[in-house]
Order: sequence, then structure tokens, then C-alpha cells
Amino acid sequence: MHIFQNKSLKPYNTFGLDAVAEQFVEVNTVEEVQVLCQTFNLVDRKVLVLGGGSNILLTQDFKGMVIKMNIKGKDVIREDESQVWVKAMAGEIWHEFVSFCVERNYGGLENLSLIPGCVGAAPMQNIGAYGVELKHCFEELFAIEIATGKLVKFNNQDCRFGYRESVFKNELKGKYIIVSVTFRLDKQPKLNTSYGAIQETLHANGIQKPGIKEIREAVIAIRQSKLPDPAVLGNSGSFFKNPEIPAEKYHALKEQYPDMPGYPAPGSRIKVAAGWLIEQCGWKGKRVGETGAHAKQALVLVNYGAATGNEVLQLAKAIQNSVYDKFGIEIQPEVNIV
Ligand code: EPU
Repeated sequence: MHIFQNKSLKPYNTFGLDAVAEQFVEVNTVEEVQVLCQTFNLVDRKVLVLGGGSNILLTQDFKGMVIKMNIKGKDVIREDESQVWVKAMAGEIWHEFVSFCVERNYGGLENLSLIPGCVGAAPMQNIGAYGVELKHCFEELFAIEIATGKLVKFNNQDCRFGYRESVFKNELKGKYIIVSVTFRLDKQPKLNTSYGAIQETLHANGIQKPGIKEIREAVIAIRQSKLPDPAVLGNSGSFFKNPEIPAEKYHALKEQYPDMPGYPAPGSRIKVAAGWLIEQCGWKGKRVGETGAHAKQALVLVNYGAATGNEVLQLAKAIQNSVYDKFGIEIQPEVNIV
């Protein structure tokens, strides 16, 4: 395990932003993570675990230790007649893991195809897309407690999953390093085609009896048509969460804006499409210096090449203010701002 000093993080975040890590170490085994926690007093230090760096906005140099998660491995660990339990180590690339499952006809993760990032980061924010969230197939995960180096198991309830939320973003923030995740998948997959765009794509491709491979293809096509490829245009996917507002407020706004998209959310609230709100405020496709809101999906902020993290942050604040001024709705970042 080599600890680098003053390492540029530019290749390690999909926004392609430059920031320097005071210390940087790549971990390849669970034992290395344990040794790291037991050797350095990480509790008193700033620690940042990076998987694919696809959900992060770096606004300044990082005065602490960056741990690049690189533990690999994926395996079927148990099965019965109808289900199979597949364990993936935290450094596995998410979409490669999904392919691994889909190719074996293990159903459950296909709607989450092509999401950037690594397996270990997926439970942090309970990744979701096209009607499915990670929590629907999640069995358990193992994480190292930073204070002790102890390996601890978390089941579905322990993780307290919510919309883009988990205990690891809240009460246990900065306390654990996720090292593996186990999913419970179906051998006779139940398809989720509830999302309109999936149905439309299957229909357009003339597919009447889809399997999970066809769902996966449809999801990939939809994502590629709307979301910029970070390898081409720096971005972190959706920059903001979709806000959940009281139903009365939604209905009042709907009188004024009849085409405002909204979906039922827990607690008789309505989830409103932040992309739509941002577009209504005139930001879609708008470029401000080296940053801007993407032309095909206003919820995605992009780096045209030379943006700084602060420039992106200023744009995000301007967008938040204009959405609040026009609709009285506060939109909150989904990405981790460091
Ligand atoms: N919309 C607009 N203008 C825009 C963008 C969206 O009017 O610029 C409207 C769309 O027409 C649609 C609605 O907003 O009626 C929802 O748009 P979309 O289906 O693109 O999904 P989203 O709510 O913007 C969420 C997730 C995505 C996920 C998609 C598909 C969040 C924060 N984002 O986006 O996740 O892929 O649904 O399920 O929940 C991510 O988290 O990084 C991410 C990409």
C-alpha cells in the first residue's frame, strides 16, 4: 500500500475537476482497509472514500486522506430454487456487475444499467432509475468501522434506505467504509416496465415479450439519449434531488402550471421533477463560462472542460435561487459537495 502525497484528483472524478489530495492511497483488499484504519488515526482526520468519483463535486483541495476503493471480485454465494445471492466487492464497476447478473438471467438490477460508479457507492445513496431502487434487491453489506478496523454487517433495515438516502449519508456519515454488497436476485425475473420511456423504447424496437436483456438494452438507449457520457463531457449525473412537496402546494402550482410533472411520494407528498423546474427557469442548455445545465436534461450540470468546482457550485446556487423565486420550492443537491 503506497501513500501518495499531494496527488491530483482530476482523473478520479467524473466532473473532471482538479483538486489536490493531501494523501492518497489505493486499497485492493479488505485487509488493507483494516490495516489502514488500525495504523493511522483516521477518526481525527478527514477521510474521503472514492469509488468511481461519479457523485462528487470537488470545490477545494482535500486536506486529508483520499482512499480509492479498488477491491475487486463478484460471486454467487448462495442459491435456492427461485433466488440467487450475488456478492460484489466495493471496487467493482457497477454497470459491469449489472451485466454479469443480466447475462446469467438473474433479475432485479437491469433497470439500473449504465449507472456510473462502483458497487460500494451504490448503497450510500440507494441508487435508483426507471422505477427501481437498489434497496429492492439489497440483502446485506459489509463495512469496516473506521475507528476500530472491525468488519460489520448491515442488513436492509440497518441501512435505512430512502430516496437517494441511507444511514451512511446521515447518522453514520464518515464512520464506515463499505467493502462488499450482496444482492438477492430472481432466477425467474419479474420485469419492471412501469416507466413510460421503457415501454416506448420496447415498442419502438418491436419487442413484445421482453426479457431482462431487452430491458437492459432499453435502459441503456434511454440513458444514452439524455445523459452526457462523463468521458466526453464532465458531469455527475443528476445534480439535484427531485423535491418532495406537500400535495396541497403541488395542486396549487398545478393550477398555474398544468404540465408540471409530479409523482406520489411517501407521506402524501408529491415528488416534482427538478429537471422540469430548472428548464422552466430557462437554464436548460444554458452555458455560464465553463459550466452549464445540459441541453437534453437540465438536472445534469456539466463541465465544458476548464470549469472549477466553485464555478459549478455558483451555477448550482443560481439555479436553486431561481427555482425558489419562481416556484417557492427548495431543491437540494444530490451530489456530495466536498
Ligand atoms: N424534465 C424536463 N426537463 C428536463 C429534464 C426532465 O421537463 O430538462 C421532465 C421530463 O420530461 C419528465 C420528468 O422531468 O417528465 C422526469 O425526467 P426524467 O425521466 O429524465 O428523470 P429525472 O427525474 O430527471 C431521475 C433520477 C435519474 C434517473 C431518472 C430515471 C433523480 C435525482 N434522478 O431523473 O438518476 O436516471 O430519474 O429514473 O432522482 C442520477 O441520480 O444521477 C440519475 C441520473
